[in-house]
Amino acid sequence: MTQKRDRWGTLGFIFAASGSAIGLGNIVFFSANAYKYGAGAFYIPYLVAFFVLGIPIMILELGLGNKMQRAFPESLSRCAGKPGEFVGWWGLLSASFITMYYITILGWALGMWVGSFGGLWAHPGTVAAFKDAGKMAFSQAFFYHMISGKGVLIYVPIIWLLNVLIVWRGAKSIEEAVSIFVPLMWIMMIILILRGLTLPNGIQGVYRLFTPDFKIIFSDFSVWHGAFSQMFFTLSLGFGIMTAYASYLPKTSDQTNNALMVCSMNCGFEFIAGIAIFSLLFAFAIVPAGGTLSMTFWTIPRGIVQFPFWHRVFGVLFFTLLLMAGLSSSVSLFEAIISAVIDKFGASRKKVILIFAVLGCLGSFIFALPTVIDPKLDGCGTLGLTLLDMIDHWSFGQGLLIVGFFECIIVGWFYGAKKIREYVNHHSNLHLGVWFDIIIKFVAPIMILVVLVFGNLKDFKSATVYGSSYISGHAWVAGAALGIWLFATCAGAAVLTLSKTYEYEGEERRGGEPDAEGKSNDE
Ligand code: ALA
Repeated sequence: MTQKRDRWGTLGFIFAASGSAIGLGNIVFFSANAYKYGAGAFYIPYLVAFFVLGIPIMILELGLGNKMQRAFPESLSRCAGKPGEFVGWWGLLSASFITMYYITILGWALGMWVGSFGGLWAHPGTVAAFKDAGKMAFSQAFFYHMISGKGVLIYVPIIWLLNVLIVWRGAKSIEEAVSIFVPLMWIMMIILILRGLTLPNGIQGVYRLFTPDFKIIFSDFSVWHGAFSQMFFTLSLGFGIMTAYASYLPKTSDQTNNALMVCSMNCGFEFIAGIAIFSLLFAFAIVPAGGTLSMTFWTIPRGIVQFPFWHRVFGVLFFTLLLMAGLSSSVSLFEAIISAVIDKFGASRKKVILIFAVLGCLGSFIFALPTVIDPKLDGCGTLGLTLLDMIDHWSFGQGLLIVGFFECIIVGWFYGAKKIREYVNHHSNLHLGVWFDIIIKFVAPIMILVVLVFGNLKDFKSATVYGSSYISGHAWVAGAALGIWLFATCAGAAVLTLSKTYEYEGEERRGGEPDAEGKSNDE
């Protein structure tokens, strides 16, 4: 069955792909990870990951989607048959866990956004009734108060509803939303960086961010693991997103250029976000230690409430920025799944959206109830070992790299990295050399494998798998999370792969190779 494929407008793809890449990962996760892994020293593995994994795998995912004109599972199926398709579905299912908790986090951000209008999270009266309020910063107390209340039951569905509305008409409606969100995100981030740098002592944060602690990078393998997963997450790689988005571009478009633009816009944004966050925290001697969620919901707000003026305005601004950046990423996660299901089953777009939104919303509710899952979560420390942390450990920390490893193997060895290289070169002024094939076939998969094996080995040895103290009191949570993740992804991918066979005999060759004028046969 051949349906007419969606098409981006002139700047639609760049806004959508950079909007997908720029998200919570850039604004808060990067700063939290950079601090955890030795600040300036984190840039070394980060830059290695950028050049050796980020740019080549971005070219691979875009080239693949554009050449095949299909979403992730079918594109991989055209490279390596059923095993390729299985990897595609497995990656999407693992990413669907990320989609669910990503939206939960956005629901919490919406709660904080609402609270920030009244300066609520800066006001002692608001949370005085909350049992541990006395021991916490107001922002932290407000956050716990908010997530334990009924508001979450409204905030989470609102974010799902916004996702549904944005993807409803496909590339067209996504493009309309991101062409507003993306420019606004840059403006808001520039305002935040100017505010951070003009605070007395703000510059201390910048020194801290760029002062390397080399001991850490050479002694601790988890730094490399952290930098590699961060690179996949921040560039939206290993989710099937970029393949789906590139399949909405005509075959004459330049994927090498697109990849370079998206990678540099994303990492440029991440770079200035790091400066903004470090300067605004260090100006008030706040150390960005702790997890990514604590960073988002109380460490940064704790800095904002100390601004000499307009802290309410900056609070609203910060959470508006998070919501816009998060939405432009969550819609891409959602679209990657929708387009794959439509490609496989030829189902109506609206039906697929509604079914997956209801299922996803139920999943997000489960992630939204951390106090139920971890009764020890009394608000005195970090968010601790909640189900969200556990699943995040697998789908973010391992899943993206596993997909990255297999897509390099499938495209590099089974399909031929050379074919993708020749395809993208055909439409680009920038010609990739044979180095691209070497990276995809050898360098990237070996590096990912080494990081996965040694990173995990170290965790197992030191019994810090899934968060140190867990193993003792919470082994069942860790086991349940691993079991749920493994079962859902493997069984789900097997069922989807075996349920129907793609009808594309000969089509890959027909649509895949451009003719002498560089025009593809099916455009
Ligand atoms: N790339 C998206 C982010 O950084 C998923 O949040």
